[in-house]
Amino acid sequence: MRIKVLGSSAGGGLPQINCNCRNCTDARNGNPAVRKRTQSCVAVSADGRHWTLLNAAPDLRQQIEVTPQLWPSPEAGLRASPLTSVILTNADVDHVAGLLSLREAVRFTLYASETVLAALAANPIFAVLDPRHVTRVPLRLERPLPIAGGLTVEAFAVPGKIALYLESSAPGFGTRTGDTIGLRISDPAGGGAFHFIPGCAAIDDPLAARLRGSPLVLFDGTLYTDEEMIVQGLSTKTGQRMGHMAMAGPQGSITAFAALQVKRRIFVHMNNSNPALREHSPERAEVEAAGWEIAWDGMEIEL
Ligand code: MLT
Ligand code: MN
Ligand code: ZN
Repeated sequence: MRIKVLGSSAGGGLPQINCNCRNCTDARNGNPAVRKRTQSCVAVSADGRHWTLLNAAPDLRQQIEVTPQLWPSPEAGLRASPLTSVILTNADVDHVAGLLSLREAVRFTLYASETVLAALAANPIFAVLDPRHVTRVPLRLERPLPIAGGLTVEAFAVPGKIALYLESSAPGFGTRTGDTIGLRISDPAGGGAFHFIPGCAAIDDPLAARLRGSPLVLFDGTLYTDEEMIVQGLSTKTGQRMGHMAMAGPQGSITAFAALQVKRRIFVHMNNSNPALREHSPERAEVEAAGWEIAWDGMEIEL
């Protein structure tokens, strides 16, 4: 199984168009200490011919342009795409806006939870995905489902939050089970499997049990500390308020994973405020000392 990180940043990207924070400034000015990053998207394939997208970022067109594996095969006829499936883990803008770049009669199957499919159905702009070409399939939680190209996907609920633009005054902003899911992607023929969780507010006991011993987890790396956006003057929100657990601290993901015996741990979906994005920073050193990697655009993983 081949996994390709197309975009490793959280919503906004790095640099974010309106941001003069230290990371954005350095990335914009080409300082090698801070790589540029497009928004959150991963592609995976077991056979090298059928590719599945895990989320669809606003930067999808550009991400495909720099990824030859995702170009139409010259033998496939006038119009073709190796993208056969798209799986969404939530309805956030950074994960669904790329669907609009797949409207040129690309034939694929779109998988998401019932609640995320309902959010798409309620928004008429997604009608550009013509049902003659795009089939929408609800992912039932904890029911492994074979998809094109020999992969199997299992969705499971994780602690999280409803998309920002759907927040209401109801408790938990109206969040329901299925608003945020994690995925286990496996290749039954090749034997590989990994977990993909780009948004997660906490690792509760069921999630810890699920992840224990996993060969590979790609996990929510939005923030290094829960209050970093407030401290840097970028926002009034904590990570918890946004549905993201921080990397550091007693409630953070590094601590939560310490006893889970996950063989390879890679952070994805990093916000531009995250100091661990900076090469040679003390925060990067902490992350690496704890056995974690920071994903980058173009990173490839062979399982
Ligand atoms: C998030 O990950 O919290 C969202 O992408 C935020 C947003 O929609 O801007
Ligand atoms: Mn996001
Ligand atoms: Zn910034």
